[in-house]
Amino acid sequence: MKAPLQLLDKFKVRFGTAASIYRAPGRVNLIGEHTDYNDGFVLPAAIDFYCWAAVAPRRDRKLVIHSENFNETVEAGLDSLSPLGKKHWANYPLGVAWALAQAGKPLTGANLNISGEVPLGAGLSSSAAVEVASGFALLSQSGLAVDRAELAQLCQKAENEFVGARVGIMDQFVSCYGRASHALLLDCRSLQYEFVKLPPDLQLVICNTMVRHELASGEYNARRAECEEGVRILRIVLPQIRALRDVTLTQLEKHVRILPPKVFARCRHVITENARVKSAVEAFHRGESKALGPLMQDSHGSLRDDYEVSCRELDLMVEIAMAQPGLIGARMTGGGFGGCTINLVESAAVSEFRRNVAAKYSAKTGLTPEIYVSPASEGAQQMALEKNKPAK
Ligand code: GLA
Repeated sequence: MKAPLQLLDKFKVRFGTAASIYRAPGRVNLIGEHTDYNDGFVLPAAIDFYCWAAVAPRRDRKLVIHSENFNETVEAGLDSLSPLGKKHWANYPLGVAWALAQAGKPLTGANLNISGEVPLGAGLSSSAAVEVASGFALLSQSGLAVDRAELAQLCQKAENEFVGARVGIMDQFVSCYGRASHALLLDCRSLQYEFVKLPPDLQLVICNTMVRHELASGEYNARRAECEEGVRILRIVLPQIRALRDVTLTQLEKHVRILPPKVFARCRHVITENARVKSAVEAFHRGESKALGPLMQDSHGSLRDDYEVSCRELDLMVEIAMAQPGLIGARMTGGGFGGCTINLVESAAVSEFRRNVAAKYSAKTGLTPEIYVSPASEGAQQMALEKNKPAK
């Protein structure tokens, strides 16, 4: 991959000095959707698409950040960080600097050049990749130790409080902790995690519907609020619960009458999805990856019907995938309302799968989907530039 060396050259032209380079990956979630902010379980993997951040110190207390993707430079004082306009790309790195400062990290001024290759707005966590790469870069160049769990939490805080999206911890966590050839089972309450080896004869195939319905971020926050409403109401009869993670399906069904129907359906999705994550991990441990098929199918159905975060294009992409030889399981991945599906496909069938799915999806929608095949990859790291390899 040439990206880091090119980025170094660009950095030199722009800022006139050498730089250190860090990278952080995007992610795909195998199962466990919309469970993270309910203290639940998720099973994502880091993917082989990264955000790269080149960084060098400045003498003053400014951050000067250039985005290769947007071809724009912003400047901000480290002591007066505030968000730019809504949806501005720079709010992610600025928000991370803000969150690090809030946590008492003595950052020094820096020039940053950021270049992301995670498809934007496709549900593959391009934003978490930017956050983690910038945070890693800013901490390291200020001579500060990087505690990955803390970095993930501060990146989440940046997105919650600076950018204004009430996301959970999944994306930032796996971008920090991903491991090659493994998915990561995360308990989003305790932040305890375990790596789950992925079968070598299966590939992660990610199909991008190429649509993103605009309501996505408003609806995301609305779903989260509905889950919180569910917890508030259920606490009247189950005072010991703190989050939907603590409620069983039997308990939920018993109290169906006190919940508004939509809230009941949202809660049912979260509770059943948590159970599916555990079943999926057990299936991988038993070496029975075929059992992932029905679990992924149920997950998709639950996200479509109970959680209402799918859309016509995602449903179609899954339906086409399900008819292909070698498909183990398919479902939408990420927040929803467009973006990507995740498909577990037998390695020998991947080429044909890509060809067929692309042709059929195009024929039905007039859109040309992008299809990515990615190994599960390593989390954030510094690059050793001479060899263009991860630093030891
Ligand atoms: C987005 C958020 C995550 C998670 C997923 C849905 O990717 O950033 O925290 O909630 O949606 O599972």
